[in-house]
Amino acid sequence: MNAPTKPVMPNDLQNYWMPFTANRAFKQDPRIVVSADGMHYKSDDGRDILDGTAGLWCVNAGHNAPRITQAVQQQVAELDYAPCFQFGHPKAFELANRVSALFPDGMDHVFFTNSGSESVDTALKIALHYHRMRGDAARTRLIGRERGYHGTGFGGISVGGIVKNRMHFGSMLTGVDHLPHTHDLEKNAFAKGCPEHGAEKADALIDIATLHDPSTIAAVIVEPMAGSTGVLLPPKGYLKRLRDLCDRYGILLIFDEVITGFGRLGAATAAEFFGVTPDIITTAKGLTNGVVPAGAVIVSNKIYDSAMENADAPIELFHGYTYSGHPIAAAAGLAALETYREEQMFERVADLSPYWEQAVHSLKGTKHVIDLRNLGLVGAIELAPRESAPGARGMEVMLKAWEKGIMVRVTGDILALSPPFIIKKEQIDQIFNTLADILPTID
Ligand SMILES: Cc1ncc(COP(=O)(O)O)c(C=O)c1O
Repeated sequence: MNAPTKPVMPNDLQNYWMPFTANRAFKQDPRIVVSADGMHYKSDDGRDILDGTAGLWCVNAGHNAPRITQAVQQQVAELDYAPCFQFGHPKAFELANRVSALFPDGMDHVFFTNSGSESVDTALKIALHYHRMRGDAARTRLIGRERGYHGTGFGGISVGGIVKNRMHFGSMLTGVDHLPHTHDLEKNAFAKGCPEHGAEKADALIDIATLHDPSTIAAVIVEPMAGSTGVLLPPKGYLKRLRDLCDRYGILLIFDEVITGFGRLGAATAAEFFGVTPDIITTAKGLTNGVVPAGAVIVSNKIYDSAMENADAPIELFHGYTYSGHPIAAAAGLAALETYREEQMFERVADLSPYWEQAVHSLKGTKHVIDLRNLGLVGAIELAPRESAPGARGMEVMLKAWEKGIMVRVTGDILALSPPFIIKKEQIDQIFNTLADILPTID
């Protein structure tokens, strides 16, 4: 074996360009986790860190869930990899069956990906493909929403609406337009659960459809509950209104459920929780409990059947990934779904959510807090930004929370919380008591 040409420094932090991270600051003062079990990470200096964020909204069943760990270990030894183009393996089919059984009636077909970003790209492509194969080829426009987060692929940033995620990356997809976001602090601050005001914001689709002509619009994509942009909840009635408008104009509705899929709101999907069924749902994260990178796009029977009936070649959809339905991801997915079912985890979220709501709103009146939001096991604490440095205050709280043994997530000056579903009431108290202690100490 050849020796490396450059000296390799163990523990040198410089070679890894970290994603969505202030690399220079992090490498001066790193936050490193070395193991995890249940509700806790262990830091490299030996401290227990309470996971207030389920990693990145993905470790729904908690860390090192025994069934999932064992399934992955067994699967590596049994079938490490199988090609998924023109070949199959049993667990991918089994997982598709199990996923479709959890999703709304009439959505029985599953396309596997490796991440949320890939799920979004896949969903957008399936929407375009659907219209084209039916002879409605003028429907090429995609409508996203301001402040939407749909991952980091070119499809996702095009329909997404977070300026910093878009501004450095050229002109992206053409033919994209955006609905307005639904966040209205003036009318809805400190609402518990979904806010009362703002359903009419869905009507912006009427203007967009009028401007472009509805016959040019392929799909609307929204997060039913926007997570990564700082937990923006849908106003009551908003999603139903969007569904009705899409039906009126023949537009497909895509729910990006990368965060809400697999129990986060106390039902298997946000579609079920809100009683609104889209045409396509994107997922990832909780599909495998975050243990193996994987995603899935669930499509309506109408879309799948149309692809089968209107195919112009033996291969109906020229799309896929080397690792779609990877055996280890499929094994992890099956074990994750079984863990959620056996331990009634979605019901647990629903049962815990009133306690969670009361804990989130206990911070009302705390220094800097200008809004508190909650739904299912999701919470957000919006802080007034420092005049000269938006985001700095949120970052300081996150760093102090880490010092005090709590992992929270920060988006600008919004702290987002989304713990594993196994969290205990005293751990919920620990999170909010710690934040109540920290906030008054911040400038
Ligand atoms: C709604 C939504 N869509 C897509 C993504 C992207 O997922 P990934 O980071 O797995 O590509 C995320 C990630 O947080 C998300 O919240």
